[in-house]
Amino acid sequence: MKLLLLSGSFHSKSRSIAILNALKGYLPQHECVLPELNTLPFYCEDLAQDMPDNIQALIRYVEESDGLIVCTPEYNHSIPAVLKNAIDWVSRPAFNSVLKGKPVTIITQANSPVGGARAQAHIKLVFDSTLSKIHPTHEMMITGIDSVLNDQLEIIDEKVETRLQRHMASFVEFIEQQR
Ligand SMILES: Cc1cc2nc3c(=O)[nH]c(=O)nc-3n(C[C@H](O)[C@H](O)[C@H](O)COP(=O)(O)O)c2cc1C
Repeated sequence: MKLLLLSGSFHSKSRSIAILNALKGYLPQHECVLPELNTLPFYCEDLAQDMPDNIQALIRYVEESDGLIVCTPEYNHSIPAVLKNAIDWVSRPAFNSVLKGKPVTIITQANSPVGGARAQAHIKLVFDSTLSKIHPTHEMMITGIDSVLNDQLEIIDEKVETRLQRHMASFVEFIEQQR
């Protein structure tokens, strides 16, 4: 199975990327790709006529993938612009893009006790507009992220690790059911 991992942040100590890297370890039999979203230009119809290579590559990754795994922080009660921009690029033509029917699962993380719940709701709304198939499951929100990861950005909280492993197993099963 090919899985596309999308991070809502991209700095060198990104907790979202740390979680996505941990997920790769739980999915050894699957091919995982984690593209850089921060190098994409902002969506612009002028560019849409002659798309830069990195956007064409992202669209191809989505098209060829069996499912998308998103891990993102919450920014000001919503989703980071870098993630929204990437989804906007891939979302055309409206209602008939490569996102249509694509299985998507969402993980949010934060230090707050609600674990990015508002970003979780907002990103679902965005994927809903693209007619993606959102993984129907318990929402996967990680609270207190800075005590879940150590200084090397490894998961040290066994309960979170177990939840993430269960979440991935459930997502793989969901993708198989869609075939
Ligand atoms: C611009 C900005 C806005 C933020 N807004 C929120 C917020 O609304 N809710 C929240 O829980 N955390 C908020 N945070 C904190 C981050 O979501 C949190 O530190 C997260 O774990 C960072 O993830 P990352 O390491 O993957 O970038 C904000 C951080 C930034 C930089």
